[in-house]
Amino acid sequence: MTHTLTLPRSVEWKETFISLLDQQLLPNTVEYIKLHTLQDVWDAIVTLKVRGAPAIGITAAFGLALSLQNYDVQTIEEFKKKLHADKEFLASSRPTAVNLFWALERVVNSINNAISINEAKTLVIHEAIQIQAEDEATCYRIGDYALSLFNKHDRVMTICNAGSIATAYYGTALAPFHISKERDIPLKVFACETRPVLQGSRLTAWELQKSGVDVTLITDSMAAHTIKTKGINAIIVGADRIAANGDTANKIGTYGLALLAKAFNIPFYVAAPKSTFDLSIASGAEIPIEERSAKEITHIGDVQVAPDNISVYNPAFDVTPSEFITAIITEHGIIHSPSVDTIKLVLN
Ligand code: MRU
Repeated sequence: MTHTLTLPRSVEWKETFISLLDQQLLPNTVEYIKLHTLQDVWDAIVTLKVRGAPAIGITAAFGLALSLQNYDVQTIEEFKKKLHADKEFLASSRPTAVNLFWALERVVNSINNAISINEAKTLVIHEAIQIQAEDEATCYRIGDYALSLFNKHDRVMTICNAGSIATAYYGTALAPFHISKERDIPLKVFACETRPVLQGSRLTAWELQKSGVDVTLITDSMAAHTIKTKGINAIIVGADRIAANGDTANKIGTYGLALLAKAFNIPFYVAAPKSTFDLSIASGAEIPIEERSAKEITHIGDVQVAPDNISVYNPAFDVTPSEFITAIITEHGIIHSPSVDTIKLVLN
């Protein structure tokens, strides 16, 4: 028997506005907000109303398509200048996920040969829609490849949310679980809650539960004990940026899970599209790591859970060295033992 999936979508292009699932309100409230301006889009990315590398890129691309509707320009040169300025503004929203810069570049480059303002407007909107459509197809392929690495009844651990709402649809690390449901293949997922922003409990647990996947929530500090006592077979995570040698930035806590996988001798998989690779940087040392506000740690909601004036370190991501990654699963195939050579071989 097969099930038809109806997964939540995080972002939709509505011509005069962007409809966005406000991920900060989940899981208690499912609300779609309307973004009307470039500033709305920037704010939504910075405040994590939309988050997850591919979804950030898609939203930013639509942000450019939205903004150009108010350009007061007479020539194509002026149009290009304005688009470039808008791109720079959106690029300042978050530093780590490379999909943001990749999508913005792609949209801006789509008008390189445009000779009229009308043509340029059409091209930008078309490119943004295309980026979203391609990401959906890409995620399905990633899910299909990832599922081939699991056996029936496997118990798999994940962190953060690399699901449908972090992408166009299906997700990356969560795609195999959604697809397993479609194909009636039983898998059991253990989701780490993902302090401090709780993407694991608020988003992953919600998304997998909605699609009927067998999911169990644990706190991040329970990972080692859970791997041991629940017989975890594999760990799978998403990615925000992958360097040429395979070093991978992902949500804070990922590196620790990779070390645990090594200690327990279980595979550690990264699932990510080609757009998450940054082949311009040699290693993870060059990946900028976002540091977010202390309040994410000192408060839970509006309740203060740390002393006044405590000093706080809040990196949002960490970098897992490629030597701890069993394989990177892409839409082009599975990169076993990621390195400069194996990555080139699969991505080219
Ligand atoms: O800070 P976030 O919630 O944007 O971080 C998201 C992650 O780290 C995801 O794992 C990553 O972007 C992959 S999403 C398919």
